[in-house]
Amino acid sequence: MSKITIAIDGFSSTGKSTLAKQLAKELGYVYVDTGAMYRAITLFAMRNNFIGDGEERLEDLVKLLPKIKLHFVPNSELGFSEMYLNNENVEKEIRTMRVSKFVSRIAEIEQVRFKLVEMQKGMGKEKGIVMDGRDIGTVVFPDAELKVFMTASPQARATRRYKELLDRGEEVLYKDVLENVEKRDFIDSHREFSPLRKADDAIEFDNSDMGLKEQFERLLSIAERYI
Ligand code: C5P
Repeated sequence: MSKITIAIDGFSSTGKSTLAKQLAKELGYVYVDTGAMYRAITLFAMRNNFIGDGEERLEDLVKLLPKIKLHFVPNSELGFSEMYLNNENVEKEIRTMRVSKFVSRIAEIEQVRFKLVEMQKGMGKEKGIVMDGRDIGTVVFPDAELKVFMTASPQARATRRYKELLDRGEEVLYKDVLENVEKRDFIDSHREFSPLRKADDAIEFDNSDMGLKEQFERLLSIAERYI
């Protein structure tokens, strides 16, 4: 079987990561969650007061970018890799609503995108990779053999995300989650550098009314046609 590159893009909380992770496991591929990388840089910016509810000092973040070290470390118990920021496991912290609130602002910065896209390209050199994000099929791997663009109604997505946050013990209101999902989608698809859009050759996958099992079976059967 030949190894290919699979790019999965789409709106916030479409369940991209869950599906991509499952698909990678089934195919014996590497899985990369690029959202985690943008979230880790955001956490760094928040901790240093470069972004928050008051003023922004994003030029100071840009100056420090070369010093920020990001890497994924496989966790065999969990069956997936966790995000490390300057050698600290930040997997839990990057998933909070607070980070979600600022991440799209950080992801607009050209220098941030440049740093992360270079890293992502490096990770995919050997193929045999499933990478999910917003610009994977358009910018990171424009030559990917298989590109999938996931969509679902904002309500379906907010409901999923809300449940996820509650399961993790975070106290959130559904209306705030919905607002965050819609706001991120707007910023992500209107930003100047590599906005979220469907690549011309991507397959659209609307999972508003599909359970996980059905989504996975469909995606796997699509992938098998390309391998
Ligand atoms: O995938 P996730 O929802 O964790 O991504 C968080 C945010 O990171 C997105 O809303 C988007 O602003 C940014 N992102 C991006 N490009 C990617 C992956 C994520 O701009 N490839």
